Amino acid sequence: MVRLFCFLAFLAVAYGRHELYEGHQLFKISGPAPEIQILDGKLDLLSTRVQVEGRLQALVRLSPEVRASWLQYFEEREISYNMVVENLAEAFRQEDAQVQAAKAAAAAKRTDRTIGWDTYYRHQEINNHLDELASRYSNVLTVVNGGQSYEGRQIKVVRISTTGFQDTTKPVIIIDAMVHSREWVTTPVALYIINQLVVDTVDRQLIEDIDWVIIPVANPDGYEYTHETDRLWRKTRSRNHTGSDQCPGIDGNRNFDHYWGTVAANAEPCSIIYEGPEAFSESEIRLIRDVVQENIGRAAMYISLHSYGNMFLYAWGNNGSVPDNGDDLQHMGDTMATAIDALALNKSTPYVVGNAAQVLYFTTGTSRDWTRAAGVPITYTLELPGYEYNFEVPPTYVDQVVKETWAGIVAGAHLVRSAGFSVFVRLEVMIIALGLVLWNSRI
Ligand SMILES: *[C@@H]1O[C@H](CO)[C@@H](O)[C@H](O)[C@H]1NC(C)=O
Ligand SMILES: *[C@@H]1O[C@H](CO)[C@@H](O)[C@H](O)[C@H]1NC(C)=O
Ligand SMILES: *[C@@H]1O[C@H](CO)[C@@H](O)[C@H](O)[C@H]1NC(C)=O
Repeated sequence: MVRLFCFLAFLAVAYGRHELYEGHQLFKISGPAPEIQILDGKLDLLSTRVQVEGRLQALVRLSPEVRASWLQYFEEREISYNMVVENLAEAFRQEDAQVQAAKAAAAAKRTDRTIGWDTYYRHQEINNHLDELASRYSNVLTVVNGGQSYEGRQIKVVRISTTGFQDTTKPVIIIDAMVHSREWVTTPVALYIINQLVVDTVDRQLIEDIDWVIIPVANPDGYEYTHETDRLWRKTRSRNHTGSDQCPGIDGNRNFDHYWGTVAANAEPCSIIYEGPEAFSESEIRLIRDVVQENIGRAAMYISLHSYGNMFLYAWGNNGSVPDNGDDLQHMGDTMATAIDALALNKSTPYVVGNAAQVLYFTTGTSRDWTRAAGVPITYTLELPGYEYNFEVPPTYVDQVVKETWAGIVAGAHLVRSAGFSVFVRLEVMIIALGLVLWNSRI
């Protein structure tokens, strides 16, 4: 009887969910880059990608109320469109069912691990998992309660080191995930990296020679909100700015103090890319800032995990020019991308590596640009794959995404290990010297 009641209650909840997106449709649009770029912030762009030189492709959500006028807008310009999801609410209900089924199956067969690569887990489950790792692997892994989110959730920072962060000659790699809370697949990737480094220790050199700092759920309020209320929530859940009654939250990846406040469109609280009332207004973002600053002398690489689009994007997003180590950024990104592409499913589109503004559009206040300006030599926004499912990667694909991405992380970490970025400079000098020798000997 109780069971039946629970089942009915579950059905009622499942049925009533996602009504926010009843009748909303997703369209894949494609057009000249400037036409697509100006849509950022005006429409909910779920992903943008280069199609061919000069043309961008994007995925946009249109509600029934605005659909007709936007489709007309597209037709008046050179923007082609086709519908890829007919009813988002229905797609989300299917996703819920898949996640629940995968979770039940996982719970039935798992013996010793609380987290697997078979579905998505809630914030509390993830925090419990991290605490368990900290007690089991206390010789190399510590979990720091880094601070609280706006709504008071504990944000955990995982620190991995064979020398207790005492060896100041080691480089540090910093990775964060879930700044944008609807990008669910980012957290499993962060957790898998921790697993490979510490639990399975597939490559001991990677922890002998490098210290790691990983934040698997940077925006837990947003993440829980995507589970409870709005699957497409991207921002934090703070309510400390003018207009927050109507439009709570800010875009964490516009809140960093790098050319913050220089673009009018980012100052609108209801915009999906609202930068906040001031730089670092969000406790979640200050936490990332502090982690980077604590390690600034040794931080060799910073990666912010996002989804989706198969891209390694580097600075400067604010103006499209490239930092003085642009060749290293390109080379390192290419190396990681190649390693990932080698393992990707054959239906995957190859990774694109490039300057964020040249590949996509201008951005300000991003973690990638701020960390680069703060002195971390190699920094990226990594847009993970969505395959044919876009941002809503089904649980059955988590395993694939975490494994192929790990291959990229390994490739990047080995470059960092072998003194990475400075090696390239030395290599260039050697090639020039060799060239001179050969040239001289010919004469
Ligand atoms: C709210 O904003 C004020 C003014 O910027 C700031 O002093 C305060 O710390 C903020 N509170 C929270 C909880 O972020
Ligand atoms: C572009 O912005 C960066 C900072 O993000 C700055 O260092 C650089 O000088 C700017 N380049 C140009 C050409 O304005
Ligand atoms: C792509 O992968 C699928 C499934 O693994 C396989 O059936 C198909 O033959 C592959 N196609 C190519 C072109 O390799």
